[in-house]
Amino acid sequence: MTLPEAEPPPRARDRSEGQTAVVELRHVSLAFEEKQVLNDVSFRVGAGETLVLLGVTGSGKSVLLKLILGLLKPDAGQVLVGGQDLAPLSESQLYPIRQRMGIVFQEGALFDSLSVYENVAYRLREEGLKDEARIERQVREVLRFVEMEHALEKMPAELSGGMRRRVSIARAIVNEPAIMLYDSPTAGLDPVTAHTINILIAKLRDVQNVSSLVVTQRLADAYALAHFTYSAEQQGLVAVASDGGLGRRVPTHFLVLRDGTAYFSGSTDELTSTPDPYLRKFLA
Ligand SMILES: Nc1ncnc2c1ncn2[C@@H]1O[C@H](COP(=O)(O)OP(=O)(O)OP(=O)(O)O)[C@@H](O)[C@H]1O
Ligand SMILES: [Mg+2]
Repeated sequence: MTLPEAEPPPRARDRSEGQTAVVELRHVSLAFEEKQVLNDVSFRVGAGETLVLLGVTGSGKSVLLKLILGLLKPDAGQVLVGGQDLAPLSESQLYPIRQRMGIVFQEGALFDSLSVYENVAYRLREEGLKDEARIERQVREVLRFVEMEHALEKMPAELSGGMRRRVSIARAIVNEPAIMLYDSPTAGLDPVTAHTINILIAKLRDVQNVSSLVVTQRLADAYALAHFTYSAEQQGLVAVASDGGLGRRVPTHFLVLRDGTAYFSGSTDELTSTPDPYLRKFLA
């Protein structure tokens, strides 16, 4: 694995008070017509941390990722990436911020008419890279990272669901983003394939120190990310002793959206030991 270390965005250090978060929402509210989707939601994600976003369908998880990408603007509150408020920025000012983020959309969303190679090369060409030898080197490298180099010339329609997700991840990481946003990356996959995707997410986090927001409906995935770390020797996940709480080896925390609010925010242990009836039902 020779991908260069992902650089944390400027001024992003960790979650400690007073230090800049990689991604931060401050009292964000957003409504579509009369429907209040988010209502006073706040959280911070520090460098190298993972935030797992949970919530029933329609609770605003995808909307929240779109706010972080600057594709939607909040009605109230602030969305900050690397300490910068996105609200006053023009599309051209948003561009370099978006380039630091990789997104794996719900359903994978590859370009059907482009080969695997061209799908992955897309962001490099968009950035204006012209040196084909360099493009090929980078595309091969990330496809190797997700173990899909053999499928370089295939079209998306020829791939399985798990393979498509892998290519989506390769496409998202080709320009070495410091922040990864995953929207339901394992939805619709069998448990074994889902696990291979979790391994990739953990590998990016633990090898490249990528900060991530992971939307998932699968608690098993959330716990895998919270309790395991990537081991290069094992080429897979190994258990960590800590509870994944802040400041530990695997800094993972959870946010549960409910009726537009951040109903729960805390560590794995806090979530699994909660007496709250709604959360207990949600986790069951
Ligand atoms: N562009 C839009 N215009 C109007 N309403 C929207 C728009 N985008 C999202 N919504 C509404 O916002 C709410 C939250 O949608 P969102 O897609 O974030 O849900 P979600 O939590 O991602 O659900 P799922 O788990 O099914 O993916 C839904 O009621 C949805 O209909
Ligand atoms: Mg969604």
